[in-house]
Amino acid sequence: MDCLKGNNLEELTTKEICLLVKEGDLPSHIAIIMDGNGRWAEKRGLPRLAGHREGIKSVRDAVTLCRELGISALTIYAFSVENWMRPRREVVTLMNLLEEYLQRELKTLLQNEVRFKTIGRIEQLPASVIRWIRNVEEKTEKNDKMTLTLALSYSGRTEITDAVNKIINDYSNGRLKDREITELTFSGYLYTNFLPEPDLLIRTSGEARLSNFLLWEIAYTELYFTGTLWPDFRKRDMLLAILDYQKRERRFGLIKEQVAGKGIKRSRGAQ
Ligand code: FPP
Repeated sequence: MDCLKGNNLEELTTKEICLLVKEGDLPSHIAIIMDGNGRWAEKRGLPRLAGHREGIKSVRDAVTLCRELGISALTIYAFSVENWMRPRREVVTLMNLLEEYLQRELKTLLQNEVRFKTIGRIEQLPASVIRWIRNVEEKTEKNDKMTLTLALSYSGRTEITDAVNKIINDYSNGRLKDREITELTFSGYLYTNFLPEPDLLIRTSGEARLSNFLLWEIAYTELYFTGTLWPDFRKRDMLLAILDYQKRERRFGLIKEQVAGKGIKRSRGAQ
């Protein structure tokens, strides 16, 4: 594959880029802020719903690719706490799409041994969506090839404040004895306590902000921003994002020589 390395990426086929990616160090956990569904639809004179529907195809592509590459976790920001303030019609549409996705995808997740999880204030979602979430979570709970997590009614600040309140509660009840909270203890109280920290965070649509996503967890995550709108972000775009990640030098606060060849990876909550 060395013969491909000097080439202009635009000249390479998706298959060739895929082979290049497979040669490098793969991220264990990718997080995605999918953005631009509305603009994608607007550009085509379509209702926003059309952008969200098309965006679900990109979600499927991302899950399939991660599974194919052997990436063990993919976390997608699907609905934020702030999104509740969108026009009611859009909120209802998004909830319907979510339920439709869960109903349709269960079979594929089972076939591909993907575990499905959610993070966020799930209790705020409509009852029928919660039922489907619990159903898909339960049925896929033993799958161990990959974890797909949807962030729903999620906010990074809410996650942190919820963790603080749980800690206070556990301390008051005697369930938590330590008077000193370490990073590791704190991480254990976050919604994401079953996941490693993300190695790569992708945001589409040209916005370069974090929008309250995984604020604690992304302390050492590599960020990748692209102008591509989410519904257009398909397998090739995702491969290019991973290839870009593979060119980065991750140092976790150390110096180059300490990291070189030692395969140092920051573990969750390490100090
Ligand atoms: C971002 O585009 C998209 C969202 C905030 C919502 C996406 C959620 C769904 C399609 C529901 C189902 C989800 C899954 C994963 C099955 P935007 O509307 O913010 O786009 P804009 O910035 O161009 O307006």
